[in-house]
Amino acid sequence: MGITFEGLGFYVPSDVLTNFDLERMVDTSDEWITTRTGIKERRIARTESLIDMAEKASRRALEDAKVEPDQIDAIVLATITPHLGFPASACLLQTRLGCKDAFAFDISAACSGFLYGLEVARGIISSGSAKRVLLVGVEKLSEMVNWQDRSTCVLFGDGAGAVVVSSEGEGEILSSLMRSDGETWEILYAERCGYINMKGRELFKLAVRSMEEVCQEVLSRAGLTVNDIDLVIPHQANIRILEALAEKLGIGMEKVYSNIHKYGNTSAASIPIAMAEAYQEGRLRRGNVVLMTAMGGGLTWGATLIKF
Ligand code: UT7
Repeated sequence: MGITFEGLGFYVPSDVLTNFDLERMVDTSDEWITTRTGIKERRIARTESLIDMAEKASRRALEDAKVEPDQIDAIVLATITPHLGFPASACLLQTRLGCKDAFAFDISAACSGFLYGLEVARGIISSGSAKRVLLVGVEKLSEMVNWQDRSTCVLFGDGAGAVVVSSEGEGEILSSLMRSDGETWEILYAERCGYINMKGRELFKLAVRSMEEVCQEVLSRAGLTVNDIDLVIPHQANIRILEALAEKLGIGMEKVYSNIHKYGNTSAASIPIAMAEAYQEGRLRRGNVVLMTAMGGGLTWGATLIKF
C-alpha cells in the first residue's frame, strides 16, 4: 500500500565514547572491538534524556517533511529504555512537540522496534485512524549497560531517529514480514531496571539465518530479486553480521548501508538513524527500492521492502 516517508531526522548526543576510552574502563582493546564488531566509537547521552533525543530527531523529521506538529495524527515510539514506567514516552514527546491532535503510545520490540512500528503505523493509516504518523526509534542504552561487562558494554550506544509517514505521495511498502519467538527470550534480555544479558555467539548465528530468511521471503512476496534492490538498511548490530547476511543474499557490501563504526548498536534507533543519515548523504534517494531488516530481543526479527 502507499506509504511515503515524508520526512526523516536523527539525533545523536555529542559525547563520544571511543574504543580507546573503553580500554581504560574494562579489559578490552580497540583491535578486538574493531575486528569483532566494526565499532570504533558510540555516543552517550550524559546530559540528555530519552525525550530530549526523541524531540530533537522528531523536530528534524517534521521540518524535513514540512509538516506542523498539529498535522500529526498518531505518534508511535519504539524503545526498550522508556523515560518513565508510565505513561508512554510517546505521550511525553507529544507534549514537547505540541502534537495536540495525536494519539500516542510506545511499542517494545527491541532492535526490531522500528520495523514493528512501521507495520503498526501502516495499519493505523490503512484503517483510516490516522493520515500521518510520527514514528520514532529512540534508546538510552547507556543506562542499561553494565559498564564492567566487556562482553556487552563495547556494543551499545544512545540516539534517536524519526520519520513522518503518510498515505500521500509516491512511496510504497512493497512487502513486509515480522516474526518473533518467545522460546528464545533468554538469549537477549534485561531484568526490570537491570543490565543487558546476551548470549552473543548464539545470537550471531540466529541473526544471520533469521534475517536472511525474512529478506528472501519479502523479496519473493514482492516478486523481486536482490538485483532490484538499490540499498539495504539493516539494523546495525555487528559489521560481521551484515557481511555474512550480504554474502548469503548475494548482494555486494557497497549496497549495504552501515554507520556502526560511529554509533554502535542503538537498538530501535539504529534503522531510522541509518535511514536519515543515508538520506542526508544522498545514498538513499526517492524511488529507491530499499530492504530493511532487523533482529533483537524477544527474539524478534523482520524485514520490510519499500519503494522510498
Ligand atoms: O542487537 C541485537 C542483536 N545483537 C547481535 O546480533 C549481537 C550478536 N553477537 C555478536 O555480535 C558477537 O557475538 C559479539 C560481538 C557479541 C562477540 O563476538 P564473538 O566473536 O562472538 O566473541 P565471543 O563472545 O565468542 O568471545 C570470544 C572471546 C572470548 O574469550 P575466550 O573465551 O575465547 O578466551 C571472550 O571472553 O573474546 C572475549 N571477549 C572480549 N575480549 C576483549 C568478549 N568480549 C571482549 C571484549 N574485549 N570486549
